[in-house]
Amino acid sequence: IRDDATAVGDYIANYIGKRIKEFNPTPNKPFVLGLPTGSSPIPTYKALIKMVKDGKLSFKHVVTFNMDEYVGLPRDHAESYHTFMFREFFSHIDIPPTQVHILDGNAEDLVGECEAYELLIKSFGGIELFLGGIGEDGHIAFNEPGSSLRSRTRIKTLAYDTLLANARFFKNDINAVPRMALTVGVATVLDAREVVVVVTGQRKALALSKAIEEGVNHLWTLSALQLHPSALIVVDEDATAEL
Ligand code: GLP
Repeated sequence: IRDDATAVGDYIANYIGKRIKEFNPTPNKPFVLGLPTGSSPIPTYKALIKMVKDGKLSFKHVVTFNMDEYVGLPRDHAESYHTFMFREFFSHIDIPPTQVHILDGNAEDLVGECEAYELLIKSFGGIELFLGGIGEDGHIAFNEPGSSLRSRTRIKTLAYDTLLANARFFKNDINAVPRMALTVGVATVLDAREVVVVVTGQRKALALSKAIEEGVNHLWTLSALQLHPSALIVVDEDATAEL
């Protein structure tokens, strides 16, 4: 628990930086990092960017896989997760764009796209560290309430609560929010050797308490982390309101 979102971001950025350095990645042995979108990871991205700019960290030998992407939103749309990731993070660090992987929500064969993503992750030997955020309904990536805890990358219809929560990015027009997304599954996240989740703000307080104080439950998919041997949730004071 840290005081505020900035302190949470600094903590996670240092944590990830330490892991990457300890791993000592090379072109043949890259560090495989899973990444989320959303406002919660932005302070982490800011802190990581600063570390790169200060010459304290490099992403040259880091390979990334993003958690999710909207279906049918043009890749260059201001709110696509592709645009978000380059705007908030990748354009400011030294990662070669060829090492960035984001699901293609406009692929002709969406099922094939999801299967290929899982295979690609495997071909890199799996994800070393998956950074995640959560929705107000406790979803990790876009694994909405009711998702199988054994789910893999797939198409998911977004819950009404998620459409409402994300309408703020679409001029508060819920009808403009894509109805579907491609998302890594709960099992894809659990397969990572380590999972770190950022939870900030009071609006996440209920989800946090459900996920860590109640049992493993497919209605609050973050709770699946209870099954992981190496999971860390970093929160601010506001998010602890219901604990
Ligand atoms: C979307 C993403 C999630 C993310 C969530 C939280 O739903 N698919 O991966 O965790 O937003 O967003 P925020 O951090 O802005 O609350």
